[in-house]
Amino acid sequence: MVNFSENISVRPRRSLLSVPAVNVRALEKIRELDCDGVILDLEDSVAPDMKGKARDNLERLFSDGLLARRETIIRINPLSTPEGKADVRLVLSCLPDAVLLPKVEQPADINDLADLLAEADAPGRLKVWAMIETPFGVLNAASIADAAHTPDARLAAFVIGLNDLRKETRVPSLPGRTYLVPWMMQVVLAARAYGLDVIDSVSNDFRDMAVFDAECEQGRAMGFDGKMLIHPAQIEPANRHFAPDEAAVAEAREIIAAFAKPESVELNVINMNGRMIERLHVGQAERLVAMADIIAQRKAKKT
Ligand code: COA
Ligand code: MG
Repeated sequence: MVNFSENISVRPRRSLLSVPAVNVRALEKIRELDCDGVILDLEDSVAPDMKGKARDNLERLFSDGLLARRETIIRINPLSTPEGKADVRLVLSCLPDAVLLPKVEQPADINDLADLLAEADAPGRLKVWAMIETPFGVLNAASIADAAHTPDARLAAFVIGLNDLRKETRVPSLPGRTYLVPWMMQVVLAARAYGLDVIDSVSNDFRDMAVFDAECEQGRAMGFDGKMLIHPAQIEPANRHFAPDEAAVAEAREIIAAFAKPESVELNVINMNGRMIERLHVGQAERLVAMADIIAQRKAKKT
């Protein structure tokens, strides 16, 4: 079994706002927004005739350096299209943190992109994220995630796309995402098996905050790291719901302290206030505390 614990990333990805790269007003707004990351979209939200203009907008945005503080992800068109190839050239010029490949269905989709990036000598810090949003994407999630093992594959995260998945499967949009949940959990499991982060899908009804809150709570309970967003109004609730819970952080600090005591050195299980805590909980606790500290530092910088 491969132990991924040392590789687990502690970058907050609670709120990833999708911004159509063609919408200059929305692009200019990004600098005021408190999202953990921004997904600059060249794919579904950009009409076919506007793709070139959208790429020009991103070129300008990156050269102006206005995005420096947050994680930047460019969503490209499929590599099988001429637009996709032009998008990769743009990515190589802008060098975001990650490139998000849509409609990934097999490991070769990831490896083909990784080959293009390697041929162009792209720096290793440029990661690849995959949208899982088709029936084959869900069915093959584990073998796609396995691409994270191949040298230079750069795969770091999955993003679930339920709009496409609903369309392809004809599963309707129901409260609680009832019949989609098993597929979503399959993707979470595949991601975790290979040490990837995993991001929940967008919520289309951006004025209905009750639905959004419920989706965030559900997504978090399912193990997602955060949510892809479509509107600035969704940022604050996503940051709140996906942040480590205060009581859980306090308990994590207690667990770390308890196992650090000299009398615990040779113990693998301890009694903490009537609950069994195992040494395996320490890694989990450290990750939670690290995440809470990063979020607190960011907040302090802003105030
Ligand atoms: N990113 C940045 N700013 C955004 C934004 C986004 N995704 N969505 C809306 N805004 C801005 C608007 O520009 C507007 O700013 P202004 O007041 O300075 O004009 C403000 O937020 C309020 O927007 P609102 O009027 O409520 O919505 P809208 O009609 O302008 O936009 C959508 C609604 C759905 C068209 C827009 O939110 C959008 O394009 N979202 C992203 C869609 C997307 O990326 N889809 C692909 C992934 S599924
Ligand atoms: Mg899609």
